[in-house]
Amino acid sequence: MIVNTELEQKGNLFPSQIIDYSKDVDQLFFHTENDVVLQITILRDSVLRFRYTTTGTFENDFSYAITQYASTGYNRLDIKENETHYVITTSKLICKVAKKDLHISLYDALDETLLCDDELGFHWEENYEFGGNVVKMSKVINDRESYYGLGDKPDHLNLKGKRFQNWATDSYAYGKETDPIYKAIPFYTGLHHNKAYGIFFDNSFRSFFDFGGERRNVTSFWAHGGEMNYYFIYGPKMQDVVENYTDLTGKPHQLPPLWALGFHQCKWSYYPESEVKEITSKFRELQIPCDAIYLDIDYMDGFRCFTWNKEHFPDPKRMVKELADDGFKTVAIIDPGIKIDKDYSVFTEALEKDYFCKRADGPYMKGKVWPGECYFPDFTNPEVRDWWSGLFQELIEDIGIKGVWNDMNEPAVMEVPNKTFPNDVRHDYDGNPCSHRKAHNIYGMQMARATYQGLKKFNYPKRPFVITRSAYSGTQRYTSTWTGDNVATWEHLGIANIQAQRMAMSGFSFVGSDIGGFAEQPQGELFTRWIQLGIFHPFCRVHSSGDHGDQEPWAFDEDVTDICRKFIELRYQLLPYLYTCFWNLVEHGTPILQSLVMFDQEDHQTHYRTDEFIFGDKILVCPIQEPNAKGRRMYIPRGQWYNYWTDELVEGGKEKWVDAEIDSMPIFIKEGAIIPKYPVQQYVGEKEIKELSLDVYYKEGKERSTLFDDAHDGYDYTKGRFSLRTFQLNGKNKELIIRQHKEGKYTTTYETFKFNIHGLPFNVKEVELDDEVISLKYIEADGTLSMVIDKNFNTIHIKGK
Ligand code: NOJ
Repeated sequence: MIVNTELEQKGNLFPSQIIDYSKDVDQLFFHTENDVVLQITILRDSVLRFRYTTTGTFENDFSYAITQYASTGYNRLDIKENETHYVITTSKLICKVAKKDLHISLYDALDETLLCDDELGFHWEENYEFGGNVVKMSKVINDRESYYGLGDKPDHLNLKGKRFQNWATDSYAYGKETDPIYKAIPFYTGLHHNKAYGIFFDNSFRSFFDFGGERRNVTSFWAHGGEMNYYFIYGPKMQDVVENYTDLTGKPHQLPPLWALGFHQCKWSYYPESEVKEITSKFRELQIPCDAIYLDIDYMDGFRCFTWNKEHFPDPKRMVKELADDGFKTVAIIDPGIKIDKDYSVFTEALEKDYFCKRADGPYMKGKVWPGECYFPDFTNPEVRDWWSGLFQELIEDIGIKGVWNDMNEPAVMEVPNKTFPNDVRHDYDGNPCSHRKAHNIYGMQMARATYQGLKKFNYPKRPFVITRSAYSGTQRYTSTWTGDNVATWEHLGIANIQAQRMAMSGFSFVGSDIGGFAEQPQGELFTRWIQLGIFHPFCRVHSSGDHGDQEPWAFDEDVTDICRKFIELRYQLLPYLYTCFWNLVEHGTPILQSLVMFDQEDHQTHYRTDEFIFGDKILVCPIQEPNAKGRRMYIPRGQWYNYWTDELVEGGKEKWVDAEIDSMPIFIKEGAIIPKYPVQQYVGEKEIKELSLDVYYKEGKERSTLFDDAHDGYDYTKGRFSLRTFQLNGKNKELIIRQHKEGKYTTTYETFKFNIHGLPFNVKEVELDDEVISLKYIEADGTLSMVIDKNFNTIHIKGK
């Protein structure tokens, strides 16, 4: 039975009158006459969980998404009763529960705005084929409400008017309307009346979300099994919603190593060894910065995971070391399908230990992938994950591979109509045995988790780096991700832009696309424009299927090479800025990319903008998404922004034409920002950074910027060995004051800051450093004032004439 609409089924059932209510610390239980129980948990003032059963008892409360580290606690919880409702109040929310049918209405506690109101509310349909229910929820769409989130959907950023499905699917050369694709992230944000709230439907079965597609004024979501179990997360700021969701489902367990934020080059496939070396040498020869080189499936022996093709790679350890000596970290692919081969130890061991997935009636789950017929480990079994993590010992500890790329983990199966396991396949689900219907969407996540455990163990004391194709909510704790098999078209450049933004607002920031397109081959112009976008994505990798020609920065013409170099160099210059963004992500769950709607939700013009986004919180970018462009129209958000290339100050809140010949793209810096920059390096750590540039953009008024630094790898930063600097800029008519606040025990390699002050509207009379007038050498050129100052300064006071 496939239920494709929320209402079409005849057999919808509804809760009846509440007959009983009980309270247990932060949990409330409402029992109805027909055995429905609604459990409301107050996790925080702004986060409530709603969970329903139709049988009087709940399932074992288990979730792969929710992290044990989520902060809980509320300050105030009141429950009152009137004739028609129970009314629960926290300091942020009012929740009314109707006695007659469990109808839920949620209000802002301060101004009583109705945030989210049940339409039919919870209802369900019995599932005769599989047992249990199809669980459903419907809510009223508010006036001018917009919707965002849901992971990797390649559709318009604003989901209003559309229907989507979550079922992780291998989607070679997907298009703008393809749904579902690789990931299942059942979390969205609604925005109306300048207030944002989130709904996380933590149900791993195939699920659907309809934002006014079926009925204009109704948003609904439903799943083919499990419980109606959702979290309501109140902002009112979108960023708070996403941060709270990220707190619930987990921030990345640690910072990535800094090299992982460099440029990555990949292709299916670079082999033999001589070709790998040719590629890496070319990067150095052409002085195009690059930190990582990838080995796709052809490095293996007959596509057997954890083996090497000795003809093509006779001595992988030596090769990996030589690459490392040249600054390259080697990343290798590992797929879930294990070749059925009695002479292959990974296969025989898993068979012996009974670690492979089985069909309901006993046979193994057999499916074709690259190696031919395979069996598949049940990554939902903790013992299997442990075993799997152990398989990485040789690859990581001995051979020196620095990162692992998990692919095909939707899981993908070839030559079958549904592209994956049949529904009846059994899974352990961490001691909650179930069918593939429930485990499908989390299979890739659990594989990435097991891989992560292996890297964490064997790469210690360095940090792990994992990349996965499939994901469920919470996968961001373990790994980075990419957007799968896209196509070398202009439309796909736009799709990549939207997907990276959407993923960031779905709590998963460490994302990038296959730059240039995986399928087919880009023209040099498209490749160049895509590099320009890609350097502003948290994960920055060129990858292509290789069967349509080469896709390295030098594969086109010299102009393309030069422009690509220029932009990749810019990424390397911005590494301290990006690294600080990652620190904010790991520490606070702050998304690294902000769509304009998240940046300024009160400006309604931003609600349907898709192309422009904020990289971190200070840099506005807008990729060129068309051929032959000399620039484009774009929306500049409210406030004042400096054109990065010309220092021209522009007033936002309107659309504007921005010049951008092929060697440029629209980049703006928020006024008042202090942007840290490194010198260009060919790879992270090539140079010891003795001086850090701080590009200061004058503003009349105040602005705060931060700068994080540490050893760029390892875990010392978790023990206080980091350096966190907060800069408070305060610009006045004839003055500019910068105050620095320092935290942490790490001694940075840089001793001095080179300040480059842009847009200073006055000539300098004198500069005071920590209250003393200093005679310092400063240069004023092109309107930029530069000066070198000791990194430990407290206050810089620039006075005008
Ligand atoms: C599919 C992946 O999406 C792609 O990136 C990879 O190159 C191929 N599998 C081959 O491993």
